[in-house]
Amino acid sequence: MSAPNKNYDPVQVTPLNADEVEHARADALAAIEKAADLDALKTVRLEHAGDRSPLALANREIGALPPAARADAGKRVGLARRAVSDALAARQGELERERDERVLVEEAVDVTLPWDRAPAGARHPLTTIQERVAELFLAMGYEWSEGPEVEAEWYNFDALNLPPDHPARTTQDTFWVTSPDSGVVLRTQTSPVQIRTMLRRRPPIYAVSPGKVYRTDELDATHTPVFSQVEGLVVDEGITMAHLRGTLDNFARAMFGEDMVTRLRPSYFPFTEPSAEMDLQCWVCHGESVGNPDRACRTCSSEGWIEWGGCGMVNPRVLVACGVDPERYSGFAFGMGLERTLMSRHGAEDMRDLVEGDVRFTRAFGTEI
Ligand code: DAH
Repeated sequence: MSAPNKNYDPVQVTPLNADEVEHARADALAAIEKAADLDALKTVRLEHAGDRSPLALANREIGALPPAARADAGKRVGLARRAVSDALAARQGELERERDERVLVEEAVDVTLPWDRAPAGARHPLTTIQERVAELFLAMGYEWSEGPEVEAEWYNFDALNLPPDHPARTTQDTFWVTSPDSGVVLRTQTSPVQIRTMLRRRPPIYAVSPGKVYRTDELDATHTPVFSQVEGLVVDEGITMAHLRGTLDNFARAMFGEDMVTRLRPSYFPFTEPSAEMDLQCWVCHGESVGNPDRACRTCSSEGWIEWGGCGMVNPRVLVACGVDPERYSGFAFGMGLERTLMSRHGAEDMRDLVEGDVRFTRAFGTEI
């Protein structure tokens, strides 16, 4: 058995050679210094401090040295490894700080940036006015009653005392769904909802019906083939024209302001008798332009009044068509154009603006959702 080799010269064991250790240390420190980011440092750590790094290999060789040589070699390798691991830790800290600073800048959130640039959208002014009108009547105890826009000719005309040969029938230019003998129309007025309401339930009836109606008009500043009306119907015992007047006055004041002045002007509708037209006093000239050329008014064409809608006492023939006893009950009805109401309220002049959907126009009416 051979004794340990007392003459073993550690300088001759290559990995432990002082120059080699110093070289490995210097290499490692240079690579650490050069590592530009945390990923690069990870590679450097593997290469210079990992299990297969020159210094780790040197460390493993120490055990093979004669005891006398171990302390010296161990110290040298240990110092070199410590230097490398200290440098790694320092560089790691440095690179982490750099990264954190960069992240703070690159991922900064500017909380002052506007976040609501995309408008939320809003309902069309015609929709909101319909609801406002309906709510006004609902608050007075009316019910909201609806009917179809594709309507049977009988509801739209016949039951409203407009038989086929009635001249007034031709004044409402009708869209027939297929042909004029189909018996099906796009309703030309909201009045058929009166009929549906009376057939559905017994008096007392207090009903309000906003909705779209259709006529074969060309779209221009004062006409549109699709427009909106609000229909009102009251059938009860002892209803008189005074109730109609009071109700419409209240409606006008709610829509146009407390000081709105109205008048009823005799007119004709087959489904009411007597019939009237309700006019609003011109809110621009208050009637002062009438017969006064110096004060001509464009809003009312110097007439002093602006037509708002039709109304009257429900014709007993309509009550009979709906099975309501005209000896016991009487009623009133009215039908107002909502486009006109909206245009009057806001001074809008062109009906096309109401149907073309340009938000520059509708935004002026508010963005109520
Ligand atoms: N339906 C009529 C129209 O479109 C308006 C109207 C007039 C409705 C008198 C009524 C009424 O309820 O009583 O021209």
